[in-house]
Amino acid sequence: MSLDLAPDTPATANNPATATTPSPAGDARAPLTPNALRTVVRELAERPEQWIHHVRLSTEERWYRRLAADEDHEVWLISWLPGQSTGFHDHGGSRGAFTVALGELEELSLGGPEQGLLIRRIPSGTARAFGPDYVHDVRNTASGPAVTLHAYSPPLSSMAHYELRAGGLVRTSEEGPDQW
Ligand SMILES: [Fe+2]
Repeated sequence: MSLDLAPDTPATANNPATATTPSPAGDARAPLTPNALRTVVRELAERPEQWIHHVRLSTEERWYRRLAADEDHEVWLISWLPGQSTGFHDHGGSRGAFTVALGELEELSLGGPEQGLLIRRIPSGTARAFGPDYVHDVRNTASGPAVTLHAYSPPLSSMAHYELRAGGLVRTSEEGPDQW
């Protein structure tokens, strides 16, 4: 994926999305839980004044901006034009959550052997949260653009891409932050 890390990325000091989980002095910080990350994106979605002015749309591919980052987690803003999608991917062992702030998306994931391919409609106001092994494909199948807010903990260090074949998901490539 490509990222737009323009210099006007907001300072994080007053951004609630950067709030960290208190931990006892001396303890290594544990990653935020999926539920905590869900709370981060939900609360941020309720404060559009903190991100709406950053939204751009790109006909080339999904548009990205990192809104905040610290050692615990990071927060991304993504826009999706109709037809734009991620393809199946993991999150390099990070836990994550995202919410649709505007528009509507569809999420594909593989359930158990009895379930096969799961397709979820994710309307505006809906949040999804997932653990470190989650693989999904997110796409805008609606007729209008969508805007989403994402949080990952620890911050993304790599992402692998997969193809869905007859036998299941097959890992095809991996990318790291230098490609974002
Ligand atoms: Fe994802």
